[in-house]
Amino acid sequence: MPTEPVIEVHLPEDHAARSLAADVRRGLATSPKMLPPKWFYDANGSELFEEITRLPEYYPTRAEREILAARSGEIAAVTGAHTLVELGSGSSEKTRLLLNALRDNGTLRQIVALDVSESALREASAALHAEYPSAAVHGVVGDFTEHLGLLPGEPPRLVAFLGGTIGNLLPDERAKFLGSVRDVLEPGEWLLLGTDLVKDAGTLVRAYDDAAGVTAEFNRNVLRVLNRELSANFDLDAFAHVALWDPDNEWIEMRLRAVRPVRARIAGLDMEVEFAAGEELHTEISAKFRRERVDEELTAAGFALEHWWTDAEGRFGVSLSRAAG
Ligand code: AVJ
Repeated sequence: MPTEPVIEVHLPEDHAARSLAADVRRGLATSPKMLPPKWFYDANGSELFEEITRLPEYYPTRAEREILAARSGEIAAVTGAHTLVELGSGSSEKTRLLLNALRDNGTLRQIVALDVSESALREASAALHAEYPSAAVHGVVGDFTEHLGLLPGEPPRLVAFLGGTIGNLLPDERAKFLGSVRDVLEPGEWLLLGTDLVKDAGTLVRAYDDAAGVTAEFNRNVLRVLNRELSANFDLDAFAHVALWDPDNEWIEMRLRAVRPVRARIAGLDMEVEFAAGEELHTEISAKFRRERVDEELTAAGFALEHWWTDAEGRFGVSLSRAAG
């Protein structure tokens, strides 16, 4: 019987604080001002995101779950994976669909989860250990864009990157990320990738600007994080939530727009920041894909796309691809 989960910490204790400070210093000194979306996700932000996934307008989570519910058995049979590597803490219901299928397929031996949050990872690892007692659980604390490093796990491994989170990366960052996933895999190992698809602008904008205002709260939460972590004094009420569809880049952009001139002091960085009325802080892009583009980007990174599934309404795509030799 496998023992307790093993947690490997690849990030120094002060990594989050240092990288937040660097991102804020750099991002608020450039024009347009910008902050990376990873800073949304403190405990409050993670809860708000969970709430977003239940909103009537936010279809991606349900659409991806529909695909995985229908295809997990096939994914398990095709890959025969011994290890599921989840980029993210592995606590989601969608991960369970994959794990149940691999367990029922009789091939599951190891579960590896990679997440930046040590606390989320410890919790998820303990839960996974309890639910899949015959699998060894290995948690890796790290950032998937920087510290993919050597992923543990017994081949063949299936790396799952779900939720459409790859859409938060710019095209060159995506190429780099997919390349580094390819680099840690042996030929023949697998990548399962969730990608939200291009569709009419109205549906997309509503998914990022819901009637209940939860996404607006989620967006403004980044300022709450700065206020707490860097002793800043942003007035959250001075910023309006903006979600727009960029048809040329085929991505959604979220921004925070100053509704009046705003001055804030960021005491932790000994820094002042000014927004003119109407000035925007760019907080997230969420790229939407077409099958051809997913195929192209995977191929460029050294993967061969072997399966492509969408939900019945064609809103979301899940691809299963194999590391080329
Ligand atoms: C978790 C990154 C996939 O881009 O749709 C949800 C985050 N932002 N609503 C996305 C998000 C606004 C979400 N991802």
